[in-house]
Amino acid sequence: MAKINSNYQKLQAGYLFPEIGKRVRAFASENPNAKIIRLGIGDVVLPLPTPILAAMRKGVDEMGKAESFRGYGPEQGYDFLLNAISAHFKSQGAEVLPDEIFVSDGSKCDTANIQEIFDTDNIIAVTDPVYPVYVDTNVMAGRTGEAEGGRYGKLVYLPTTAENGFNPEIPSASASPKGTVDLIYLCSPNNPTGAVMSRASLEKWVEYAKATEAVILFDAAYEAFIQESGLVRSIFEIPGAREVAIEFRSLSKTAGFTGTRCAYTVVPKEVKARNQKGEWVTLHSLWNRRQTTKFNGVSFPIQRAAEAVFTPEGSKAIKENIAYYMENARIIREGLKAAGFTVYGGVNAPYIWMKVPEGMTSWTFFDKLLKEAQVVGTPGSGFGNCGEGYFRLSAFGFRENVLEAVERIKSRIKP
Ligand code: MLT
Repeated sequence: MAKINSNYQKLQAGYLFPEIGKRVRAFASENPNAKIIRLGIGDVVLPLPTPILAAMRKGVDEMGKAESFRGYGPEQGYDFLLNAISAHFKSQGAEVLPDEIFVSDGSKCDTANIQEIFDTDNIIAVTDPVYPVYVDTNVMAGRTGEAEGGRYGKLVYLPTTAENGFNPEIPSASASPKGTVDLIYLCSPNNPTGAVMSRASLEKWVEYAKATEAVILFDAAYEAFIQESGLVRSIFEIPGAREVAIEFRSLSKTAGFTGTRCAYTVVPKEVKARNQKGEWVTLHSLWNRRQTTKFNGVSFPIQRAAEAVFTPEGSKAIKENIAYYMENARIIREGLKAAGFTVYGGVNAPYIWMKVPEGMTSWTFFDKLLKEAQVVGTPGSGFGNCGEGYFRLSAFGFRENVLEAVERIKSRIKP
């Protein structure tokens, strides 16, 4: 008799974005003439830039000739891409060696899968609000206990709100049955708040992880959207981070690869955790073992396209696309502010985090915005209890739609 993994039954509701899609489809079928503007899921709209497309085409052509055809590639990624990524980190002031990089098909998958190499009795800390993948994958693995009132009993939640400048604080000893936490998920620039963690805060976390033998899982999928100078793009800019952190990066939003799929994860050789006997084990060796068993690499033409992202022409082209999205972010942020809404984010990240009008919940605001302005966003409560009363708008859209969405909100919705 087959039995299911009963941890799946502890998951709350459906995954956030399919739930939004369901509500929008229902509205669209009842209102077939409505012109719906989608600023919900963060999905790019601009086509792949020419130099990147040219590299992908060249890669496809190489696959069509016997002399340049490639079969299975290295599970970790081709050297040409690993070298390009390593050089990119160097240009940002972070030391990452090519063989510490693992190319993959997405940061969602990598941040979801990484927990597999850790014991199930690790205590997990997540920010609140949080990208739901970190939580749900730990629920599936049985680390969280049951949910009650929107929170899982065995998770340690780190409120990350305007009150603390969106810098999660180190948990008090009483927050965890062990007194400390073992795995800490941090995301900066943050999805969903759009905030960037300060250097001082990251330094504190690295210090904490060193002192407690914890590991930081640092999601930097939106680092390319940082506009202001002096902000931390890679956790490896922080002294000591190579001993305690793993970093995830993605070309999805950075270079328009949401449909094409390419990302990379850095596991420094120094980062370790203990086995049951108390001996240190390198996480690099475990992640390598996991990837070589369960993953066969990203396709060759896609890796060629990814390589082109790091050339001068590719880098210039993606910066233009990022500037387009960040101008959208500015239009949303300033338009909503002018209309009297309280807004955060949208300066160094493609997400605007707004307060919903007094007395409404995130989901009632979602429904109101859809019905009255035909604009789709993401309810903050979908990211955690501290997201209740907030709403996320994505800057990934065509300019004319963004302008129209802001006009509709300004004229139809009271703050
Ligand atoms: C989001 O809208 O939060 C993202 O598109 C989700 C993702 O990257 O998986």
